[in-house]
Amino acid sequence: MQKPQAIIFDLDGVLTDTSEYHYQAWKHLADDEGIPFTHEENDAHLRGVGRRESLMYLLKGRSVSASQLTEMMERKNRYYNELIKQMTPNEVIEGGRELLQEIRDAGIKTAVASASKNCMVVLERLELVRYFDGIADGYSVVHGKPAPDVFVYAAGTVHVPVSACLGVEDADAGIESIKAAGMVALGIGPKERFQRADKVLSTLARHRLQDMLD
Ligand code: BG6
Ligand code: MG
Repeated sequence: MQKPQAIIFDLDGVLTDTSEYHYQAWKHLADDEGIPFTHEENDAHLRGVGRRESLMYLLKGRSVSASQLTEMMERKNRYYNELIKQMTPNEVIEGGRELLQEIRDAGIKTAVASASKNCMVVLERLELVRYFDGIADGYSVVHGKPAPDVFVYAAGTVHVPVSACLGVEDADAGIESIKAAGMVALGIGPKERFQRADKVLSTLARHRLQDMLD
């Protein structure tokens, strides 16, 4: 592709492996509630999906009251926060910091488009905040991925038209969001995961800017 004016990154599962922590926190909740839940299910149905939607999947049709729903979402978030409390800057993907610096040095804006309300905490723990010109997170928009809103919002934070942005995502719901926003989409993960990505890399680790654009 042509050199984009901005590259907009999903956080969890792209720049760090927090998607595994999200899985462990959901698994803890599922175990508490006696609900069977596997890693494969997590990958197929929960990756990149918001907290409420994830819980709705996990419950698999069990009926619970509104206050129980809230309590379970809070409990999962407590478990998740216990896990991310231990995070250090070493948990940025290998070469991630250098890649972000290379992108900025090339005159390309950088932004985050995350569904997570814990996005800022994770970015701070990883000491990544200063690498981004704009940040959109779980507090920025009403309609989460696969709606385009969070990527459109992120493009707005760096004043770049959506058509000049490259979006990077590890979740198929996120790729849908990027495409619906009118951006070029780079998928991170196994090829089979993505229906609509313009390009796929198995990981962003140890890659250079040119690898993202070829
Ligand atoms: C996404 C994660 O980034 O954020 C999902 O991939 C998570 O697993 C979603 O459910 C919402 O995160 P949070 O931290 O607000 O519960
Ligand atoms: Mg993700």
